[in-house]
Amino acid sequence: MESTEHSCEIAALVAAHRKGYALAQPFYLSDTVFARDLQAFFFQEWQLAGHISEIPQEGDYLLFEMMNESIIIVRGKNNAIHALANVCRHRGSRVCIEPRGNTKRFTCPYHAWAFNLDGSLFNARMLDADHDRSKLGLKPVAVEVFQGLIYVSLSPSPTSFERLRADLDPILAPFGLARTKIAYRESYPVRANWKLLVENYNECYHCTAAHPEFARSHATHMDAARVAPLNAQMQARSKAAGASTAYFDCIGAKRPSGSPDYAYNRYSLFDGFLTGSEDGTPLAPLLGDLTAYDSGASDVYVGILNPMLVYCDHALIYRFVPIDKDTSVQEIIWLVHEDAQEGTDYDLDRLKWLWDVTTVADKRIIEKNQEGVNSRFYEPGPFVGMEAYTQRFIEAYLATLATS
Ligand code: FES
Ligand SMILES: [Fe+2]
Repeated sequence: MESTEHSCEIAALVAAHRKGYALAQPFYLSDTVFARDLQAFFFQEWQLAGHISEIPQEGDYLLFEMMNESIIIVRGKNNAIHALANVCRHRGSRVCIEPRGNTKRFTCPYHAWAFNLDGSLFNARMLDADHDRSKLGLKPVAVEVFQGLIYVSLSPSPTSFERLRADLDPILAPFGLARTKIAYRESYPVRANWKLLVENYNECYHCTAAHPEFARSHATHMDAARVAPLNAQMQARSKAAGASTAYFDCIGAKRPSGSPDYAYNRYSLFDGFLTGSEDGTPLAPLLGDLTAYDSGASDVYVGILNPMLVYCDHALIYRFVPIDKDTSVQEIIWLVHEDAQEGTDYDLDRLKWLWDVTTVADKRIIEKNQEGVNSRFYEPGPFVGMEAYTQRFIEAYLATLATS
């Protein structure tokens, strides 16, 4: 447990924060803050754990692992998706060892207690009959399947997806994310505190200098006045293609009570770019029910930690994973239509090119950011207008820390 002394220390840091400025050094370097980050964010918020296409058959499972926790995600009877703490109810061994596979039930490698796919206890050898076996199942973990994406929350009282579903289900349905599959995933280790990864993702102030490949096709590095006409021209194209241009910003102060953060925004690529490809031409078959390319891309947030980018023919999901206070992993998952065949319908190198080259560049600048933040000369500087989403994250972060 965190001591009162540590709580005061964090409360003082939050109170001393200067609005509109970057975070003070201890937010990145303090073990106490990192411990609170884990409790307040990573063990509370919903985390993307997988996609339903990864576990298509009854008994298919995968492990979702974060810090020292391991969760079994399994498809049980009647297509129910279960999330179960991977901790044996006998003496606590990990029950499931393989990272993914198919099984009829989970048998603990230590003394062979066996658990059904829904976590209930199937058999406990030689256990006295007077124990209530119904109370010895693997502990359930909160799980939500939203548009084919599997989210888990380790919180005992997780937030509700009700509002998020009501607002985002109709918007995302045409993209058919539930009818996609994972074409590729890559983990990029970054020697930096997790917040520097999230801060970097949420602003494109750095894009002109750091991402010439991205800046050729995406207008997000330009000021709003220059982007607005592009987006206005996209409206008719999006309508014709079946892609939603609704706008939601329910993050931080705008987050509905009891709900995860969520947001949706579709913006136009530059003329000549149908999707996020090197030459502007398609990368894969159209997603879902789209009938044409609108040359748009959607920024989607389901929780603040798992942003998505949805083009007409592929989507990307980001995961920011803390390893320790100084080390993180940025994982990217590329989704394509479930029927798309590699080599025929898409070329993997072309598909992943933009966000691979962009993420490699981000890794470099984020690590340099961390090195400077570590310095005795570091002093938080002011944000500019283009960093509004990073400020939004900082404010949501501080609010969560203050109330956790
Ligand atoms: S710890 Fe699992 S059966 Fe003993
Ligand atoms: Fe970047």
